Amino acid sequence: KKIVLAYSGGLDTSIILKWLKNEYGCKVVAFSADLGQGDELAPIREKALATGADKVYIDDLREEFVRDFVFPMFRASAIYEGHYLLGTSIARPLIAKRQMEIAAKEKCDAVSHGATGKGNDQVRFELAYYHFNPAIKVVAPWREWDLNSRQALIEYAKKNGIPIPVTKKRPWSSDRNMLHISFEGGILEDTWAEAPEEMYVLTTSPEKAPNKPQYVEIEFKNGNAVAVDGEQMTPAQLLAHLNFLGGQHGIGRVDLLENRSVGMKSRGVYETPGGTILREAHSAVEQITMDREVLRIRDSLIPEYARQVYGGYWFSPERQMLQTLIDDSQKCVNGVARVKLYKGLCRTVGRKSDTDSLFNLDFATFEKDQVYNQADAEGFIKINSLRLRIRSLMQANRKK
Ligand code: ARG
Ligand code: SIN
Repeated sequence: KKIVLAYSGGLDTSIILKWLKNEYGCKVVAFSADLGQGDELAPIREKALATGADKVYIDDLREEFVRDFVFPMFRASAIYEGHYLLGTSIARPLIAKRQMEIAAKEKCDAVSHGATGKGNDQVRFELAYYHFNPAIKVVAPWREWDLNSRQALIEYAKKNGIPIPVTKKRPWSSDRNMLHISFEGGILEDTWAEAPEEMYVLTTSPEKAPNKPQYVEIEFKNGNAVAVDGEQMTPAQLLAHLNFLGGQHGIGRVDLLENRSVGMKSRGVYETPGGTILREAHSAVEQITMDREVLRIRDSLIPEYARQVYGGYWFSPERQMLQTLIDDSQKCVNGVARVKLYKGLCRTVGRKSDTDSLFNLDFATFEKDQVYNQADAEGFIKINSLRLRIRSLMQANRKK
């Protein structure tokens, strides 16, 4: 009996590690994915071994995360319920994928995670697990054990020699990776109370951001950002750079009351500095390169695509189908966006495309016109108003 646990090094997954050993008497492989959670990661190996892990994997997945998960999602301009850039949602399928690779390699018969039975993350992890191995056994301690209060957890930790962090716990839960940091629970459950300034990690407050705006130029190829201010970067480097710039200018804070997959509403606060800049810039290049009807149909698919990612259906035929269509729409998305960062706002101020622009001054100009005959518009309006005129006519006749 051997199990791979998605381990974060926090109190909850440390307790889970011990609980799995106590309850199942199995060997535990602790696995942490480095998705850019910063200094959280450093002490993890020692912690896991001290808590009883038989083996530890810590894998740097940052490039894969941005290239194969974040970027495809940004090609789709995904946004959930109009506000959430899906930073946690998009990370779970990759963690699960790597976890299942380890499970196969280590000949494990089960996998485990620390997500609660009330949230989205359990669904995302487990849908992906079953995609990779339909026969895998999943252990979700939060749905099994009776440690259902903070107090019970602390007692269990004390009894089992798990160190309880002495630093006063920040009164909310958070999840961080290269795309974002999320905050939920604790004091945020008062939906009327503004989140405290000291909560934020990636961004300075817009009020304290520089008084001088900063201009950034982002180049796109096939819908993917490839360079910032003329400098080519890998996907992870590029996102890290935009996080730094956006963070300085207080960009990408969102406070949202969202609908979880399992049905309840929940308050989430997010910081997505680089992602917010990226989405704005991507849209700017689409504006100048994309056909109107392609854009319209693609836009209509954004809520559907976002729902699939939010719901954990990354590895699904429906997400793959939309991705194929979307990636086809991105072949023309080549060009440069110029955005202006200033006190929490990121606005497009310019866009260009040498190879794929559909903007033609001869047609668009308000000045002289030789290619567009204004008189043609009369027929266009007459035909398009036909059904409106018929309807009016019929209504008027009936009234007589
Ligand atoms: N509500 C967000 C989502 O569902 C964030 C979840 C954060 N997860 C966590 N384990 N802290 O994607
Ligand atoms: C959890 O319940 O584990 C975190 C929140 C969520 O998954 O939505």
